[in-house]
Amino acid sequence: MLDFRIDEERCIQCGECVLECPAGVIAMDAYPEMTNEAGCFQCQHCLAVCPTAAVSILGKDPDASAELKGNLPDPAHLATLIKGRRAVRRYRDKDLAPELIDHLLEVSCHAPTGVNARSVLFTVVRERGVMNRLREHLMDRLAKAKDGGGLPEGLAGKYLGWTVSAWQEKGTDILFRGAPHLLITSAPADAPCPVQDTHIALTTFQLLAHAHGIGTVWDGICMMALGVCPEVVGKLGIPENHTLGYAIAFGEPAVEYQRTVQRGPALVNVVKW
Ligand SMILES: Cc1cc2nc3c(=O)[nH]c(=O)nc-3n(C[C@H](O)[C@H](O)[C@H](O)COP(=O)(O)O)c2cc1C
Repeated sequence: MLDFRIDEERCIQCGECVLECPAGVIAMDAYPEMTNEAGCFQCQHCLAVCPTAAVSILGKDPDASAELKGNLPDPAHLATLIKGRRAVRRYRDKDLAPELIDHLLEVSCHAPTGVNARSVLFTVVRERGVMNRLREHLMDRLAKAKDGGGLPEGLAGKYLGWTVSAWQEKGTDILFRGAPHLLITSAPADAPCPVQDTHIALTTFQLLAHAHGIGTVWDGICMMALGVCPEVVGKLGIPENHTLGYAIAFGEPAVEYQRTVQRGPALVNVVKW
């Protein structure tokens, strides 16, 4: 089932895979052996840690993995990416290349998930034609809800009311900020950590997107709109048994930021025991 294999010509019997296995299911005999297939949670740490690329699991060829040495971003650039990422609210009316969207999603599914569940579903709007129809539909539904007194009390109702009037009066899109694409993450409600997994996946997507010069904005207004129009969630193809994570609108930015903002200091609580 797991297809755990050791290339005995390469294996130097260092025991790193045995030490690394978080489930403790690899033991060293003459060579490392899988002792409990059902206990393995398929994290591939054994493949990742092996200094001689001798371990294969799940049919994966270790030589097909990217080498880490010499291929990692330097910390200063990564810090600038984190500090330089902005909530983008101006977009070009242009689809991103489908291959780029595929790449962003393919890398984002490497984000960590509780107990390595890997059950996050990426629901994506890949074309702005689809986005335009979704926008029209939601704006129409929200306008009707507003007229019929069907918007929620409090902040959500206030923001959604503002979204409807900006659209009707000025054609300004507060719902998706004019973005051509949308990503919503969800995960089965019975996954070990559905909420955390979906948010981590989006954060991962967002940082990689910005590294490619793609703009993103976390879309709380879209989440509020889906709360008012729950039938849309099903129409988007999100399974009923899924917990919704969050939405991010994205696309080619029509704005260029020149510098980082200045925040901090971080709110830190040092534990003294
Ligand atoms: C959970 C969450 C929901 C958000 N919802 C919206 C939104 O609906 N519309 C919007 O324009 N910005 C939204 N934002 C963006 C925040 O307003 C933005 O991150 C914040 O003002 C800081 O700006 P920065 O992201 O450029 O650092 C949201 C951010 C988060 C984290």
